Amino acid sequence: MNKVKKAVIPVAGYGTRLYPASKAIKKELFPIVDRDGMAKPLIQVIIEEGIDSGIEEVCLVIREDERDAFTKYFDEPVSPELEKRLADRPWAVEETQKIADLSQRISYIIQKEQQGFGHAVYCANEWVGNEPFLLMLGDHVYVSNNHIRCVKQLIDIFLELGGNTCAVMRTLEHMLHLFGTVAGKQIPGKSRVYEVREIKEKPSVEYAEMHLQTDSLPLGEYLCFFGQYILTPDIFEYIKYLIDKNIRERGEIQLTSALEMARKDTGVFYAYETDGQRYDTGVPLSYANTVNAFAEQTYARRTR
Ligand code: UTP
Repeated sequence: MNKVKKAVIPVAGYGTRLYPASKAIKKELFPIVDRDGMAKPLIQVIIEEGIDSGIEEVCLVIREDERDAFTKYFDEPVSPELEKRLADRPWAVEETQKIADLSQRISYIIQKEQQGFGHAVYCANEWVGNEPFLLMLGDHVYVSNNHIRCVKQLIDIFLELGGNTCAVMRTLEHMLHLFGTVAGKQIPGKSRVYEVREIKEKPSVEYAEMHLQTDSLPLGEYLCFFGQYILTPDIFEYIKYLIDKNIRERGEIQLTSALEMARKDTGVFYAYETDGQRYDTGVPLSYANTVNAFAEQTYARRTR
């Protein structure tokens, strides 16, 4: 099985739920204090999750008019005046170098029209080529419960099992309207790994009760997407089919529909219950909670 070296992160959405702040700053560039105590744009925290897990190259799927927002941060050197002011702060010099290193690994692909998450993933088709890749959301950050990064946990499972594998977390039924949900069967001897038998985008509670129960979970809990996927390149054929036939849900080309088609065709799809936490930053209150949760982590580390 190939090592997973490439990551795709779609960031071409409009961030309407964070309006009007998203009019001033692209939501993926909102600031957060990371666990190392550094103030960073969210997208950097997301990319570092991948790089620290062994990812070598990252593709950001962007809107045409937003390239500058990203390249200004990652590619342009700091002004000579600022450089002078930072020169006697070794931590800042180190951060500048980290950004320059990341910039070498980032490619940009344009999504011309915002036709949904699945469509954005398809835009990275040629860049990905013929190898498995990591897919992450542009508005979620993660904290592992152990010393292994959440993405690394997922990659390890993928390398062991092969086949499309998505990260999931247990979610209460009243939250199902927010998430793609899978139903599965625990694989004997692997307490966190499930063979998936159905994938459904944002199901109703009634549908979930009828079709999406996973036997080993308490009643009223379901496996919902965590926002990290390792996919084999044949997924692009399924998304292409949806695009060609104009098959949409809520007006958009959905990745979930392509995942379910791939699962039905190949009979293989795994879910891994990550030992970690997912933090959404795409909604005002969740963003505020995420900033707080990360700050608490930083404080806990410093006082240890
Ligand atoms: P979301 O639907 O959560 O982001 O998509 P959004 O569209 O920016 O949010 P709202 O609903 O307007 O507030 C998840 C990820 O997919 C990207 C987004 O940028 C986000 O990181 N995305 C979404 C695209 O790249 N293209 C799209 O057409 C849609």
